[in-house]
Amino acid sequence: MCVVGARPNFIKIAPILAALDKAGRVGSLLVHTGQHYDRQMNDNFFADLGIRQPEINLEVGSGSHAVQTAEIMKRFDGVIDQHRPAGVLVVGDVNSTLAAALVASKKSVAVFHVEAGLRSFDRSMPEEVNRILTDQLSDLLFVTERDATENLLREGIASSKIHFVGNVMIDALRQNIMRAIPAARTLSAAGFAAPDAFALATLHRPSNVDQVETLARLLDTFEEIGRDLPVVFPIHPRTRRQIEAGGLGAKLRSASILALEPVGYLEMVGLLAGAKLVLTDSGGLQEESTALGIPCLTLRSQTERPITVEQGTSTIVGNDPAQIRAAYADFRKDGGKRGRIPELWDGNAAGRIAVILADWLKAAA
Ligand code: UD1
Ligand code: UDP
Repeated sequence: MCVVGARPNFIKIAPILAALDKAGRVGSLLVHTGQHYDRQMNDNFFADLGIRQPEINLEVGSGSHAVQTAEIMKRFDGVIDQHRPAGVLVVGDVNSTLAAALVASKKSVAVFHVEAGLRSFDRSMPEEVNRILTDQLSDLLFVTERDATENLLREGIASSKIHFVGNVMIDALRQNIMRAIPAARTLSAAGFAAPDAFALATLHRPSNVDQVETLARLLDTFEEIGRDLPVVFPIHPRTRRQIEAGGLGAKLRSASILALEPVGYLEMVGLLAGAKLVLTDSGGLQEESTALGIPCLTLRSQTERPITVEQGTSTIVGNDPAQIRAAYADFRKDGGKRGRIPELWDGNAAGRIAVILADWLKAAA
């Protein structure tokens, strides 16, 4: 039973479902918790990535962390009883990930976690709590980088459960890059003439968008950078809500910011492929910019994906305008980090997961 709930989950599950299906290796049921539900955050991803309609949708919608997590748990409980899966596969670090893992574990159903072991060492991030707890509950832990294995071993997880398989996000990227929608088309559909060169920005971390002063400073910094290199900015609904609540809408009307609604996956890959620079607090975009060799200024004070800094194109710059400005000046001077592709980020991670899962399930049967 594969469980998804939020935008980055959809991208991760697409190559996994395809690999499980291949040659009928492992049968699957797809459960959607309903954490993300808008056409732009949900339906477009199922269409772009060719993911089948989930067999089960819990339709939980939005809520506080406690309410959302609890509601998923309540609704998922009966689903487990009804279907008695041989195991529950969860991806990433969102509330849906932890909620499903907790329910399965309490019912003595095996938990398989894809993208295990990443740690920001900052427990004020809701995702960090989700990651630590999900990993403690998991029977198989699939990791994207070797640092993650070290983190898990330090937390007392048996090495026999840990498998370094590579990165399914990069499987999806490689499978779809040839189908990407050119940036000029996406921009023109939104009423913008495509600039010769542009930066791509996204923001959605509570630490960047939930306080109006921080968000205002970041938008001002985008505006300033945008005067030199126009900033294409697809806006997450959390961020949109905060911009409206904080009365910051006028900042988006600057000619140097090309504000968009959240874009579909094929549009995003096209924007990424065309961008000179990425400015983001997204986990997925840090990885995708590393895979594509595009310099990325990571607008956070740390990352749970250190390989994107050590080997990839990411530079941690936080959310202080002076630091972002300085990093942008460096990028302008030397073109930014080029990096190299991390080990096993080769497009075959989901295939490795499917083989390990098939063996595990056979042994457990
Ligand atoms: C969630 C994940 C985060 C992940 C992000 C990916 C948790 C704790 N957070 O954050 O790790 O990086 O998804 O995008 O699980 N909303 C809509 N339409 C939607 C979905 C959300 O308008 O389809 C709005 C609602 O106002 C909602 C808010 O966005 O309250 C936040 O949604 P939520 O899923 O709680 O958290 P994200 O910020 O999206
Ligand atoms: N993404 C997208 N359209 C957007 C913003 C993001 O297709 O408007 C994709 C992007 O490829 C990114 C992925 O969604 O890697 C992950 O989403 P997000 O940044 O929401 O979550 P995170 O990876 O930070 O958990």
